[in-house]
Amino acid sequence: MVGAAVAFIAGNWKMFKGPAETARFCDELRRRIGAVDGVRIAVCPPYVSLREAIDALAGSPIAVFAQNAHWHESGAFTGEVASLMLRELGVDGTIVGHSERRQHFGDTNETVALRAATALDAGLDVIACVGESAEEREKGWTEDVLRGQVGALSDAVGANGRLTIAYEPVWAIGTGRTATPELAGEAHAFIRSLLDVPILYGGSVKPENAAELLAQPGVDGALVGGASLEVEPFAAICDAAARLARD
Ligand code: PGA
Repeated sequence: MVGAAVAFIAGNWKMFKGPAETARFCDELRRRIGAVDGVRIAVCPPYVSLREAIDALAGSPIAVFAQNAHWHESGAFTGEVASLMLRELGVDGTIVGHSERRQHFGDTNETVALRAATALDAGLDVIACVGESAEEREKGWTEDVLRGQVGALSDAVGANGRLTIAYEPVWAIGTGRTATPELAGEAHAFIRSLLDVPILYGGSVKPENAAELLAQPGVDGALVGGASLEVEPFAAICDAAARLARD
């Protein structure tokens, strides 16, 4: 996090928390976190819970992001949601290209770049996810994979001031296997050589490993999955980032 203006901690809830639970969670998070200097915080609920998150967090420094956004303004795309619709709802930003979207729902480097470009045009902030699978790392393809993923984003939007990249090695997501701080630092340096925007680390970030990961040069924050589903661990990760920002 050395040199980063403000660390960014985002909680990716995936397909957890309906509207009622979201409202309760956000009320509690708001009470627990208050204002955290030097750290930007966002929650990313499922579409159906965005409204409750926006209402519960209105006037607080905690932002609300969606988990995906389509690249057309409207049209015959059953099941998809457009960036402009999210903007109208009051959403601050969106994740695009999460590895679960790439793995299970056919997202490619090209569609992820389109999603990012349209969301930025609509006025949303974007967290674009990249990262290699275990097999790709074992075969020594990590840099090629990252070059393809980041290159598509770079061609589409360049170093846009509202773009953040999340480096999430697929083998570290939801597995409890975190990248070592050194490995994360190396990957972040490589990504930054391709596109100079803030880069979050994601993949089994928890209160116990957050400080060490966030202290790596080039790690500008974290995209947190499992540990963002409870207030206390998520707040503890935000506290760790705040401590580093003060030091
Ligand atoms: P995890 O998920 O923290 O549960 O590994 C991270 C993510 O998928 O964004």
